[in-house]
Amino acid sequence: MEGAVIQTHSLCRDYKTYKKPSGILNSIKGFWNRDYLTRHALRPCNLSIGRGQIIGLVGANGAGKTTLLKLLSGLIHPTSGTAEVLGHVPWQRKPEFLTKISLLLGQKSQLWWDLPSADSFSLLAEIYELDPVKAKERWIALAKRLRCEDQLDIQLRRLSLGERMKMEIIGSLLHEPQLLFLDEPTIGLDVVAQETIRDFLDEYVKESQPTIILTSHYMDDIFELADRLLLMSQGSIVFDGEVDDFVQSRAAQRAQGEEDLDFEGVIREFLEEEQSRR
Ligand SMILES: Nc1ncnc2c1ncn2[C@@H]1O[C@H](COP(=O)(O)OP(=O)(O)OP(=O)(O)O)[C@@H](O)[C@H]1O
Ligand SMILES: [Mg+2]
Repeated sequence: MEGAVIQTHSLCRDYKTYKKPSGILNSIKGFWNRDYLTRHALRPCNLSIGRGQIIGLVGANGAGKTTLLKLLSGLIHPTSGTAEVLGHVPWQRKPEFLTKISLLLGQKSQLWWDLPSADSFSLLAEIYELDPVKAKERWIALAKRLRCEDQLDIQLRRLSLGERMKMEIIGSLLHEPQLLFLDEPTIGLDVVAQETIRDFLDEYVKESQPTIILTSHYMDDIFELADRLLLMSQGSIVFDGEVDDFVQSRAAQRAQGEEDLDFEGVIREFLEEEQSRR
């Protein structure tokens, strides 16, 4: 793709684990004689993503979504294949690359647990060499929009999950990244907090026009925010296309009289069919 922000060629990632037998004696035996298992977390992946696209990455637990995001943000190395992200090889983790991207892992905190968020943001501003006054204006403005400005001075560990996630989002946007990897930014949140974050991201996208890969197990997030859908099953991308095309083509395949499914239903059905085919 001309001017692609992300381009991968046969990008693969295996995880090698070993079977740990139960019992002390077997554990000792296993020390010399290990039974290795290879898990193909990402099978040859060829992707091309253009500037400003909002990609919804969906798949069952263990499908390989986080693995793909970790590769594209350079947190892990591939087993084979190549990737070019914003003109860089992500796992070289060059500062010019890192200042342009952001990876938010909803299942892991990236801010300092014992610090109030305002202090974490201040540290991040130093790390990214941002103007301290402008950075502070920015985190306050973002916090207002996420309706959490009165929690900026509370230690992160004293916040609720939803409040913490809002702080994580602010932290991930502080340096105005062009490319955002959002791995389950609404995980475990109540419907109101989910909606607040969704509306916030929707507005943010319109204003700042970043490129985003978003994963979520809540299909409302994907339906409302994404324009392109990537479906993953057991390490492979099994659908790549416009959200609307996917919905329409699935609806067209339904026999007359068959009940209509909502977006979540259509995706679940497709992924179940994929799984049973393998
Ligand atoms: N550090 C690791 N060591 C060994 N295996 C791993 C490791 N990380 C992931 N895997 C395996 O790789 C596969 C893909 O995992 P991944 O975390 O990418 O899935 P996911 O699609 O993000 O799932 P979820 O929706 O549960 O977050 C899984 O089978 C998982 O067990
Ligand atoms: Mg994951």
